[in-house]
Amino acid sequence: MTEPLATFEQFASLVRTRRTSLLMDRGRPVPPELVEQLCRLAVWAPNHKKTWPGRVAEFTGDGRARLGETMAADMVAADFGDAGKRDKTRTKYLRAPTMLVVGCAPHENELLDIENRDAVAAGIQNLLLGATALGLASFWSSPALTSAPRVLELCGFDAGDRLVAMIYLGWPDGSCPAPDRPDISISRVTG
Ligand SMILES: Cc1cc2nc3c(=O)[nH]c(=O)nc-3n(C[C@H](O)[C@H](O)[C@H](O)COP(=O)(O)O)c2cc1C
Repeated sequence: MTEPLATFEQFASLVRTRRTSLLMDRGRPVPPELVEQLCRLAVWAPNHKKTWPGRVAEFTGDGRARLGETMAADMVAADFGDAGKRDKTRTKYLRAPTMLVVGCAPHENELLDIENRDAVAAGIQNLLLGATALGLASFWSSPALTSAPRVLELCGFDAGDRLVAMIYLGWPDGSCPAPDRPDISISRVTG
């Protein structure tokens, strides 16, 4: 029998320690090698039919402002959000030293299209847990638009891809309390 890589308690502690937090040092960069390691973890998520639908784009430095301007331009083009929301979008990605945009390839089959997104979401959780293990703070935020043609192009994704997550990544400079969780309800059928 092979030795376990971690005890269940160590793993459970990692899972429970991960927080959605923007309390991070904006001035301390995240080394690109660490980002690469995290993105590789995402690919180890389950993926029915091995379609490998995940795409990632990394934004640092002035690229973060460009991302914000581009998203705001897509919001204007889609007539989405008011002036205040668009203004906030222009600068919001400066709140982390590294922004990761995660996209998902579509599938012509309706079920596999849904499963592609499931696989990408599972990959994101791998990435977030890896970030926690490295001592990084992370924040999974929804994109203002899932179909944002200018952002897709800026990211180097295909025009038909969808945006799944805007991930803020950085070294923590504070800590957030864990939100309460409901107890899990399990229905058991044994016969
Ligand atoms: C698909 C998805 C989208 C999310 N989008 C946002 C978001 O746009 N803004 C936000 O504040 N949190 C967002 N979150 C994070 C949740 O708010 C967060 O997971 C929840 O409050 C529980 O906190 P915890 O992750 O620290 O346990 C998102 C989470 C998921 C899974």
